[in-house]
Amino acid sequence: MALPKINPTTTEAWKNLEKHYKKVQDVEMKNLFAQDEKRADKFTISWEDFYVDFSKNRITDETFKLLLKLADEVQLKEAMQAYFSGEVINETEKREVLHTALRAPKDANIKVDGVNVMPEIFSVKQKIKDFSETIISGNKKGYTNKAFTDIVNIGIGGSDLGPAMVVDALQFYKNHLTTHFVSNVDGDHVNEVIKTLNPETTLFVIVSKTFTTQETLSNATTLKDWFLKSAKQEDIAKHFVAVSTNIEKVKGFGVDENNIFPMWNWVGGRFSLWSAVGLTISLSVGNENFEKLLLGANKMDTHFKNEDFKTNIPVVLALISIWYNNFFNAESEAVIPYSQYLNQFATYLQQGIMESNGKSVDRNGDVVDYQTGTIIWGEPGTNSQHAFFQLIHQGTKLIPADFIGFAKSLYGNKDHQDKLMSNFFAQTEALLNGKDKSEVIAEGTEKTLIPFKVFPGNKPTNTIFIDKLTPGSLGKLIAMYEHKIFVQGIIWNIFSYDQFGVELGKQLAGKILKEFKNDDFANHDASTLNLLNHYKKLTN
Ligand code: F6P
Repeated sequence: MALPKINPTTTEAWKNLEKHYKKVQDVEMKNLFAQDEKRADKFTISWEDFYVDFSKNRITDETFKLLLKLADEVQLKEAMQAYFSGEVINETEKREVLHTALRAPKDANIKVDGVNVMPEIFSVKQKIKDFSETIISGNKKGYTNKAFTDIVNIGIGGSDLGPAMVVDALQFYKNHLTTHFVSNVDGDHVNEVIKTLNPETTLFVIVSKTFTTQETLSNATTLKDWFLKSAKQEDIAKHFVAVSTNIEKVKGFGVDENNIFPMWNWVGGRFSLWSAVGLTISLSVGNENFEKLLLGANKMDTHFKNEDFKTNIPVVLALISIWYNNFFNAESEAVIPYSQYLNQFATYLQQGIMESNGKSVDRNGDVVDYQTGTIIWGEPGTNSQHAFFQLIHQGTKLIPADFIGFAKSLYGNKDHQDKLMSNFFAQTEALLNGKDKSEVIAEGTEKTLIPFKVFPGNKPTNTIFIDKLTPGSLGKLIAMYEHKIFVQGIIWNIFSYDQFGVELGKQLAGKILKEFKNDDFANHDASTLNLLNHYKKLTN
């Protein structure tokens, strides 16, 4: 079954939401709480170690009902069925979208072209496990017979962001190996990493689904050349491994056939950390933890697949986001994790969310006349409180925010944890209630300063409150956002799994690079031509 191709604005629910929006657009959440003592409980989903409170949103019972109706009318259930069962839902690239199969149990039966992919997935998983164990234990050694101390992950986009975010997030669970990530084609990036490396004890993991990506191939070549200054050609087999779908190209680069970890076209780059793209995760935190991450994601898959929409975490979060994006015209969403471990989480989500849903042509090939893809940004709390929270509290823009927090800290320092969590709870409370003029006056504020000290409040937040940051809960959290992306793509009637928008810049960069070599700039606009000539003047 192909995905439904329903323009959401033509549905009954959408039209009713438009009417409903006119009625409730100025609703004050604090009044909604005052009117309904059950509101907090009613709009909270407790599932496993997740407690998701979405009551601090500008929604009423009626809003929620209409949003759920919208999900039905765009045939979300049917679309989910197509997603999980391996239909070719990435129609523009003619591919299945099966990152969920990578974390499915061994006895699942998920077919691509009539063939169950689970045996293949599990054979690669075994290879990841065996390889990780020999490297971590020190049994596998480098060309001078020393155990490995450093891993360099060479990749970009989905071949970098996922592993980098997870390795950082799970650093508490990390082993003795030092992990580096080289992504940018900026030579200063790779050289800064090289500075810290010893070729005798470094393992290079080249990750590229296509094995054609300029950044990754340039960095891999630079690192190979640097390695060969100390080692011999035949030593490459001991130090370079690759993850790719393009086996021939990997071999052409000089990686030994046994050192290739395959992946498949039905895994999108930005959803690939569950595949061999996660090799660096397995090497850094051990295969057992990597498997726990996958298991967590699988649990979220099961929840998403089976749960009623009204208590389905990814569905509810997606619907609320649609409400703000399409009816309140909110342009962006913030993700604020109250854990320093999730420092790279928003950056990671930016690719997932914006590369997937940053589209303006619908599944019928027509240009949309409604808003799609949200802009996503964020930083860990409390740092962000001292940076951009001013704008969220008192600025003119509506910025719905996800607050992610963990009840237990990993080192168990109660004093710090209580301080951290008091901020976590205080901020959503402050955003909800604000502070009105009478409260400001009651604080004895100097008259001229009163307007500046008022907080309007009524700023929406979701609280995603989790027991503890573990590989399993992180897997659930990532999968939660993956499914939110899917739901929103279905509602917006766009194709979430292609990314043609990244091509034009790549094409032009290729053309300009050739022009540098030929020293001849042709067919550019006047601004670009001036910039190119300025570059030439400064660098020749
Ligand atoms: O930015 C475009 C993109 O194709 C991403 O979707 C992908 O994650 C990244 O480039 C890297 O691609 P590859 O893994 O093929 O090197």
